[in-house]
Amino acid sequence: MTARTRKAPTRAPKAAPHRPASAPPEIATLPLAGGRKAHPALGLGLWAQGRWTPADEARTKATIGRGYEQGFRWFDTAEVYGGGRSERILGDVLARAAGGAPDVFITTKVSWEHLRPAQVRASLINSLERLGRTSVDLYLIHAPDAKVPLSDTIPALESLWKEGRVGAIGVSNFGVEELEEATRHLSEARIVVNQVRYNLFDRDEATPVQEYCRAHQILIEAYSPLARGLLHGRYLDAEKPTAEFKRFVQRQSETDLLPDLLRRARALRTLADEAGVPLASIALHWLARNGAAPIVGATRPEQVDGNLAAWRVRPDDSVLDRADAIARGDRA
Ligand SMILES: NC(=O)c1ccc[n+]([C@@H]2O[C@H](COP(=O)([O-])OP(=O)(O)OC[C@H]3O[C@@H](n4cnc5c(N)ncnc54)[C@H](OP(=O)(O)O)[C@@H]3O)[C@@H](O)[C@H]2O)c1
Repeated sequence: MTARTRKAPTRAPKAAPHRPASAPPEIATLPLAGGRKAHPALGLGLWAQGRWTPADEARTKATIGRGYEQGFRWFDTAEVYGGGRSERILGDVLARAAGGAPDVFITTKVSWEHLRPAQVRASLINSLERLGRTSVDLYLIHAPDAKVPLSDTIPALESLWKEGRVGAIGVSNFGVEELEEATRHLSEARIVVNQVRYNLFDRDEATPVQEYCRAHQILIEAYSPLARGLLHGRYLDAEKPTAEFKRFVQRQSETDLLPDLLRRARALRTLADEAGVPLASIALHWLARNGAAPIVGATRPEQVDGNLAAWRVRPDDSVLDRADAIARGDRA
């Protein structure tokens, strides 16, 4: 299901020259309207790896390396992640990968603090230098900044696209009005992606954006698809929620949202157990069925393995329907 469909061989099957017979199954790709390359359906996000302490650099490299070795091709980074260390480490790991990893799809982002035209250009040049590449496949505005009009930022991004330094242009954390405004300032390129927080529990606010994106062929990239590990079963037994996780759940709310969230997550786990699938398979394929491309985080190689194992199991639609209702809060 997740492997790309291939033509039936007429002779004894031969491994493709660049893929050893023992290579893990490929992650399928999605068409990217207006992009120069197809977009992998599942990505590895490089925000939190190692939490960016120098002592964790070896583990960070091992995690990214394991991701590439085990089949991840889409890597999501940003100039702000680890103050540039995320991009640099990704560049180092890929440069050492077999053949220099020619088959990757790299997304990076310009910070919300660098949205003036000259800053956009300088940010990309610095990102490319850290990544050790001449171009990236997708360049996103990390988040809008009300102080800088999109009429300044968007033409600057389009110039980089015309020069071939970015394969496609997208945005992140944009609402419908901002998407409309961004589109108004493009002449030839398109906004191909909107990257937003989206998972079984964080969904209502994504709905109008989703409708807009679907109507305009803008791919939704879903960040925090596992609700920071909760949808892998974290915090449902002995492990206590961390302060960071509680802040992630709470956001601006004054009501304590955690008890109800844990109740719904436990009900989802029961569903997963009954269906004989990993909880994370439900989380990721619920997003994929809704047309989104999840970007999972992982801070150690075993988590990369766990996430890929989960992706490679596709729960039945009836299970995804039931999960949808449970996550919404239906008690029946
Ligand atoms: N555009 C934006 O504004 C924005 C914002 C946030 C994220 N992002 C992107 O989206 C990516 C993913 O976001 P996220 O980190 O919030 O996603 P997530 O996949 O929901 O959470 C990742 C966290 O879940 C835990 N986890 C992952 N795999 C696990 C496994 N197999 N078993 C147990 N626990 C597991 C780990 O927590 P521990 O580290 O605690 O073990 C990991 O750091 C980021 O790396 C970044 O690239 C973008």
